[in-house]
Amino acid sequence: MVNDSKLAFIGAGKMVSAMVSSLLRLGSFKPEDLICCSANDGTSERLSKATGILRANSIPELLAFEPDVLTLGCKPQQLAEIASVFSDKKVESIVLSIMAGITLGRLSDSFPDAQNVIRSMPNTPGQIGEGITGFVFLNSPNQLEYQIVTNILSSLGESFELNSEEDIDRITAISGSGPAYLFEFTCALECAAKEIGLPEKLANKFALQTITGASKLLANTDLHPEELRSQVTSPNGTTQAALESLEKNNLRKIVLDAVEAAKARSIELSNA
Ligand SMILES: NC(=O)c1ccc[n+]([C@@H]2O[C@H](COP(=O)([O-])OP(=O)(O)OC[C@H]3O[C@@H](n4cnc5c(N)ncnc54)[C@H](OP(=O)(O)O)[C@@H]3O)[C@@H](O)[C@H]2O)c1
Repeated sequence: MVNDSKLAFIGAGKMVSAMVSSLLRLGSFKPEDLICCSANDGTSERLSKATGILRANSIPELLAFEPDVLTLGCKPQQLAEIASVFSDKKVESIVLSIMAGITLGRLSDSFPDAQNVIRSMPNTPGQIGEGITGFVFLNSPNQLEYQIVTNILSSLGESFELNSEEDIDRITAISGSGPAYLFEFTCALECAAKEIGLPEKLANKFALQTITGASKLLANTDLHPEELRSQVTSPNGTTQAALESLEKNNLRKIVLDAVEAAKARSIELSNA
């Protein structure tokens, strides 16, 4: 039944394209069971051409497809415009939002007749199927609803149901903003490489490959990062010297402060 479902996507940008491509690649859905629409046709036309899924010229046309799940994959600031188009239409499907900062309250106000409403928070690595997504249901889901939602969200990588909507703000500060922390650390490593005398090209290459290589190592072992760190830290060696400097400068407190700032901003934006 899950794979017989019809899915509609509002938005056909980076995230929706990743979801659609992955769902088709995994054989979870057939192209004719999926439909998308976008604001200016450009992205939806491209996605439809690339994958063979259907394309609607407007939201009413999208709804005429009678989807089982309506996925909201446009930008959060576009919800108001979309909701106004929906105001005179009854949406009775499951509504799944991947929009950052839009609360279950706002979603259920915009879609009062929805079978169920889900707020989810994916992250950027989802674009290559390596993401992690947290989600919450408005109403306790039945087995089919749970199955179809996890099926769709797993197209971006791993997915986990959260205990409460507050956890969305917590994961936003960890997985949502987290890739940027790693990118910033990579930039810092590259700058340091140049500062200690490596030519620019080598600084870039060595910093980038170190981060990607270490991430892959992490992904390919059951060991906790503490253990991996110990393995490369010989007593009185170079790594120990560096780690002592990081500890003296309170790296963990710096990271905690950053995470708390992101969480506070997530709460602020959700309440705006
Ligand atoms: N990118 C990420 O890693 C990431 C991570 C977490 C959450 N998210 C969430 O995922 C959502 C999509 O992000 P994205 O990066 O995929 O965005 P994106 O690439 O900019 O795509 C946005 C899509 O929404 C469409 N759109 C805009 N206004 C619309 C309207 N009125 N009706 C129908 N479609 C409309 C756009 O159409 P046009 O191209 O025609 O304008 C485009 O296809 C956002 O809400 C974001 O918060 C993204």
